[in-house]
Amino acid sequence: MVTGGAGFIGSNFIHDMFGDPSFDGRIVNVDKLTYAGNLENLAGIDEKFGGRRYFFEKADIQDYGAVKAILGRYDIDTVVHFAAESHVDRSIHGPAEFILANIMGTFNLLECVREAWRDRGDVLFHHVSTDEVYGSLDDGGYFFETTPYDPKSPYSASKASSDHLVRAYHHTYGLPVTLSNYSNNYGPYQFPEKLIPLMILNMKNGKPLPVYGDGKNVRDWIYVSDHNRALRLIVTGGQTGETYNIGGENEWENIRLIHALCEKMAEATGEDAGRFRGLITYVKDRAGHDRRYAINCDKLKNDLGWRRVVDFDEGLARTVRWYLDNETWLNHILDGSYQNWIHLNYGGR
Ligand code: NAD
Ligand code: TYD
Repeated sequence: MVTGGAGFIGSNFIHDMFGDPSFDGRIVNVDKLTYAGNLENLAGIDEKFGGRRYFFEKADIQDYGAVKAILGRYDIDTVVHFAAESHVDRSIHGPAEFILANIMGTFNLLECVREAWRDRGDVLFHHVSTDEVYGSLDDGGYFFETTPYDPKSPYSASKASSDHLVRAYHHTYGLPVTLSNYSNNYGPYQFPEKLIPLMILNMKNGKPLPVYGDGKNVRDWIYVSDHNRALRLIVTGGQTGETYNIGGENEWENIRLIHALCEKMAEATGEDAGRFRGLITYVKDRAGHDRRYAINCDKLKNDLGWRRVVDFDEGLARTVRWYLDNETWLNHILDGSYQNWIHLNYGGR
């Protein structure tokens, strides 16, 4: 079971799993289809594997009856739990949904699997989380798996809470769990509210590129397929009860990253990078804006042999290309019809 599989990372994860010939399992995607859930992300998968190895269940993870029924309908041995409200800015303007989806949703899932699995040892609940639970760094140092939690935004506080619940279920009830805390992912299918796709979209449409504050906040970027390979290694070979940090070892100040994106956009379109740079606009800072995130992922590398494959230059070029080549996908988000598509195809379920 993959929760939140119609979102950015979850849909890439499903593509990566079915793209691997050594995977012969089945995936049940449980998603409520919030504004961030888009079944167009999975159109190819549904056509190729739908009804045989891929199943979609429109459900809210907070819904006890629905989750219990799904667990009863399929023989689930692994849960990879992505489903969450994920955007910091939205959590600042409306935290309630984050508390419900991220905390209550995770709690409900844990209760349901605990009852469904009882004492089974051949099962795993993998909880997907963020490096933002560790707080904010200044110019030095890294987040380790042992770094004390110090979340600063309603989003990161809700994720921290869900992490604690997952660990408590392992400690108290012996539920087999693993956790991953990771840095900013980028790549195809990311909803254009997050930094990289928003900048690409605005450059495409000649709109301002909003830079929060002084533009010197630092994020550690990882290409989504590199992240998903790490996730798979943890799910298949990680130690039960353990947490693994996943990072790109790739720190960028926002403003430097935006300049790099302007260059990539110029290369891809043949236009002058100066035209894109001219759109850069400094705006009011995000409230409580975390200064720097930087992940130490030695545990993942040493224990599970993970290595990053896609370097940033190539990853950015691929991402810009993908957004330019997938205009229909983007237009359906802009005009809202991606949600009609859901209604047309799944309205009756
Ligand atoms: P996303 O916002 O693109 O997708 C979230 C998905 O969850 C959507 O399909 C949405 O419909 C679904 N969902 C939300 N609430 C639900 C509910 N109550 N019931 C069922 N489905 C629900 O998010 P993403 O960027 O793909 O992130 C996935 C996970 O990874 C999240 O848990 C997030 O906290 C974590 N994470 C993301 C990043 C990142 O860079 N994007 C970094 C670190 C951690
Ligand atoms: P975001 O993609 O929202 O991810 P997160 O806040 O979870 O790291 O933002 C990445 C960085 O980019 C963050 O420092 C905020 C900044 N930012 C901007 O400067 N302008 C924007 O329009 C957005 C969306 C983000």
